Amino acid sequence: MIRIDYTNVMAEVIGERDGILREELLSFRHFVVETHSIIQREKDRKFYFCKLPYQDTQEIKDYAQHIRENFEYFVLIGIGGSSLGAKMLFESLTDLNYNLKNSPKFFALENVDPAVFASVLEQIDIKKTCFNVVTKSGSTVETIANFSIILSMLKKELGDKYKEHLVFTTDPEKGFLRKLGNQEGIKMFDIPPKVGGRFSVLSPVGLLPAAVVGIDIDELLSGAKKMDLICSIEEHVEHNPAYLIALTHYIANMRRGKTISVMMPYAEKLSSFVDWYRQLWAESLGKDGLGQTPVKAIGTIDQHSQIQLYREGIRDKIITFIQIEETEEDFKIPEDLPEDISYLSGHSLHEILNKELLGTKAALIKSKVPNITISMDKLSAYNIGMMIYMYELATGFSGYLYKINPFDQPAVEEGKNFTYALMGRKGYEEKLEEFKELYKEKYKIEIQ
Ligand code: PA5
Repeated sequence: MIRIDYTNVMAEVIGERDGILREELLSFRHFVVETHSIIQREKDRKFYFCKLPYQDTQEIKDYAQHIRENFEYFVLIGIGGSSLGAKMLFESLTDLNYNLKNSPKFFALENVDPAVFASVLEQIDIKKTCFNVVTKSGSTVETIANFSIILSMLKKELGDKYKEHLVFTTDPEKGFLRKLGNQEGIKMFDIPPKVGGRFSVLSPVGLLPAAVVGIDIDELLSGAKKMDLICSIEEHVEHNPAYLIALTHYIANMRRGKTISVMMPYAEKLSSFVDWYRQLWAESLGKDGLGQTPVKAIGTIDQHSQIQLYREGIRDKIITFIQIEETEEDFKIPEDLPEDISYLSGHSLHEILNKELLGTKAALIKSKVPNITISMDKLSAYNIGMMIYMYELATGFSGYLYKINPFDQPAVEEGKNFTYALMGRKGYEEKLEEFKELYKEKYKIEIQ
C-alpha cells in the first residue's frame, strides 16, 4: 500500500503565495482527460514502458537461477539508465549487509574511475564472477571501456570458457554489443527498442540483476500492474497518483517558482531510489530552458544539514518525503534513562524517525514550504513496483505539461559525441574541430 498526502502543498494550509488552490488543480481537467487518452493510445509507442509490467519473466528467472547456482559474484557493467534502476532495486529491496551474508555478491561498475575499478576487482574472484554488461546503444564509452578490460582479463584467466561468464542486456538488433554477442554466442537479453534507458528498470535491465539477488520480480511487476490499472482507469487528477504528482510539481514550478524538487526519504535504503528519480526527472524534463532540478536529501541526516536552507533560504523548493510505516527490525531505548534524557525512555528508533519527520513537516508548514508525503506500509517489491510506475508515468505526463519530449536526451548525446571525438573515434573528426573551436583554457590559476 502507498498513500500520497498532498495536504501541505495546498493554499489553504500554506497560503496562496506558495500553495496550490484546489480550483487551480481542477482547472486542468480538460487537459488531463485529453492527455490521458493520448497516453492510452501511445502505450504501443512512446509510452511502451507501460507494457513492461505484463511481460513474461520466466526466462529471466531461469537465467538468474543459473547465475545464483554457478557464480559467487555478479558485476553489473553499465551507467545511467542502464545501472541506476538495478542499483535502486538492489539497495532498496535487499538487506543492507546483503554482500556480507549472501551469494552471488552484487557489484556495479558504472564510472571509469580507476579507484572504483580496482576496489571491485579486489573484492571479487574473476573466475567465479558473472558480468552483466548492460547498454542499450551498445557503445557508451564508460561501459565499453570497463567491459573491454574485463573481457581481456576473462580471456586470459579462462580461455574459451570466458563466454560463460558474460551476459549482455542490449538492443535486440543494433549496436556493437549485439554484434559481438551474436558472433561469440553469448547469452543476451533484449532491451525493448521503444523503451529509453531511464524508463527501462522494469525490463531485463533491472529485472535480471534483481532476480539474481533474490528479489521477487513478479511481485515488483504486480505493484507496477496495480499502478497501471489505477492510472489507466482514473482520469480525475485527485484520484490518479501519477497525474497528481506531475501536476502539483508543474504548478509549483511554473506558477510558484519552485524550481527545485527535493526528494527526502526517511529510510536510508531509499537513497538510490532518489538517484534513480533524479535521472528520470532531470534527463526527461530538463529541456527548452524548463524543468525542475531534482535534489536528494535523507531524513533525518539532512535535517541537520539542509533544513535551515529549505525553511529560510530562497523559496524555490517543493519537497517530497517518503516514509516507511512498518519496519522488520526496530530497537527500543532502555526505560532507565537519566532524568535529562528520560523523554526517550521506552521509545524505539523507528518511532523517533517518524516523529522527526512529523516535526520537520510541521516546521516546513510554518515556513510555508510545499511538501508531499508518500507513505508505504512497508519497503516491499510490490510497493517499489508501484512507485517506479507512478514516477515513470508522472514523468511522461509532465512532458505534455511542459510541452517537451520527455523521452529523448539530446544534451546527453552531445557530451557523448564530444568524448568520442576526443578519444579519436572514426567519423567524429568534425566534432573534434568543433570542440577545439569551443573549448579554451584562457583564465586559470595554478598553485604549486
Ligand atoms: O536514459 C538514458 O537514455 C541514458 O541515461 C542512458 O541510459 C545512458 O547514457 C547509458 O546509455 P546506454 O544504455 O546506451 O549505455
